[in-house]
Amino acid sequence: MARRIRILDTTLRDGEQTPGVSLNIEEKTAIARQLEALGVDAIEAGFAITSKGDLEAVKAVALAIEKCVVTSLARAVKSDIDAAWEAVREAKKPGIHTFIATSDIHMKYKLRMTEEEVIQKTSEMVAYAKKYTDYVEFSAEDASRSRKEFLYKVYEAAIEAGALMLNVPDTVGYTTPDEFGALIRDIKANVRGIDKVGISVHCHNDLGLAVANSLSAIMNGADLVECTINGIGERAGNAALEEIVMAMDTRKDFYDIEHGINTMQINRTSNLVSSLTGINVQPNKAIVGKNAFAHESGIHQHGVMAEKTTYEIMTPESIGLKHNDMVLGKHSGRHAFEDKLREMGYDLAKDDLNDAFIKFKDLADKKKQVLSEDIEALVLDKMMSPNEIFELDSYQINSGNKLIATATMKLKKGSETITEAATGDGPVDAALNAVERCIGFPMELDDYKIKAVTGGKDAMGEVNVMVRKDGRRFSGHGVSTDIIEASIRAYLNAANRAYSSSAAKNGE
Ligand code: KIV
Ligand code: ZN
Repeated sequence: MARRIRILDTTLRDGEQTPGVSLNIEEKTAIARQLEALGVDAIEAGFAITSKGDLEAVKAVALAIEKCVVTSLARAVKSDIDAAWEAVREAKKPGIHTFIATSDIHMKYKLRMTEEEVIQKTSEMVAYAKKYTDYVEFSAEDASRSRKEFLYKVYEAAIEAGALMLNVPDTVGYTTPDEFGALIRDIKANVRGIDKVGISVHCHNDLGLAVANSLSAIMNGADLVECTINGIGERAGNAALEEIVMAMDTRKDFYDIEHGINTMQINRTSNLVSSLTGINVQPNKAIVGKNAFAHESGIHQHGVMAEKTTYEIMTPESIGLKHNDMVLGKHSGRHAFEDKLREMGYDLAKDDLNDAFIKFKDLADKKKQVLSEDIEALVLDKMMSPNEIFELDSYQINSGNKLIATATMKLKKGSETITEAATGDGPVDAALNAVERCIGFPMELDDYKIKAVTGGKDAMGEVNVMVRKDGRRFSGHGVSTDIIEASIRAYLNAANRAYSSSAAKNGE
């Protein structure tokens, strides 16, 4: 019988360490729920000690998840482990993931600890975590650049102290597939007690080898792989879940490995993570890039028309991709809309459903065909702006190639109406300046991205922004068939986050 590999998704922890990404509680919970639907075995939900917000977000994920193990990362330090436990204690299957660096370079310059001290810390902190929960994962950070004989001793100390999962990270994406496979074999052959625990791997993509290294580790006996959706993560990112899984499925003849992933959920998970993090997927990205199943050259198109397998090694349907799936129109009623949402896997609360239906009707008036991508964008938009303090009421823009762009903006803040006007270098600049006057605090716009949700001139525009206020960065998201409105909504979404964050800080 084929061996079953386990998958730990760390999109909510290492993925959130992608520069510029910051997810709030609702967003983390929405991604976690989708990861559960995808079928991952474990979710690393965050690094609880890093902020109160992250601790609360891990807690929320722990409460929302039914089947997967939910872990929080912790340095090999008591206060980190306490925070991790505080965050996951209410999970159905809680876990603590603690780590310490083991390479000479990290021990000398970062930890300033000797080998003996690192071994001692490993024993003490794994045992400390073990007092809280049975599922303790231990990582030897920078394992792939660590001295092997020393690494074996550290892992032995972790096993003796009760770790159930030993993680082998290629922290800086330095290793190669053959070398990493050999490291896993060597660990299996040389670490006392290794057969009592699981081996997991965690590969970074600095040399573009994260997926190849993970697959090599699997072939050499790793039991679990850590990865992220769309390969997001620190620096060049982590091994991409969708690539590892589809490699194992498409080349079952070679790998002969089972996993618990429902591949039909891959496309949706990828879209959700991309929208909520604001990190677009590169078009030529394997499996989930826009072009992954597009055939451009005449020879290829002809081949695919004659027989798909000439140029397609897997089907778009196998990752749940359905294009131009016309779902509803302006005459569709509430029941049809509700059915469609359910079919798409969304189970919205009554108020959210009412709100989504109003937005759908509004969209159907403006757009001839409402596709499933549109519905998805509306639902995501709602998820990303749950309790807005400032809400857009109306706006008016005057703009042209020989005019100074001017914007008049009307916002609502509770029962108050705020109206302001501003000029700018083009309609978007004018609109955002007017928003800033209404909200009463300045923000710097660090990043602005726009994309069309579907094809067609009447497509909705989706805008993602990153703003800076008081040295902190906040993301914002907005959709509309009018790209100025989408821009305003995205900017307001970010402003609301900035406002809530400083209100929380001031104890309001
Ligand atoms: O890359 C790394 O080494 C990590 C560990 C903390 C597992 O993220
Ligand atoms: Zn990492």
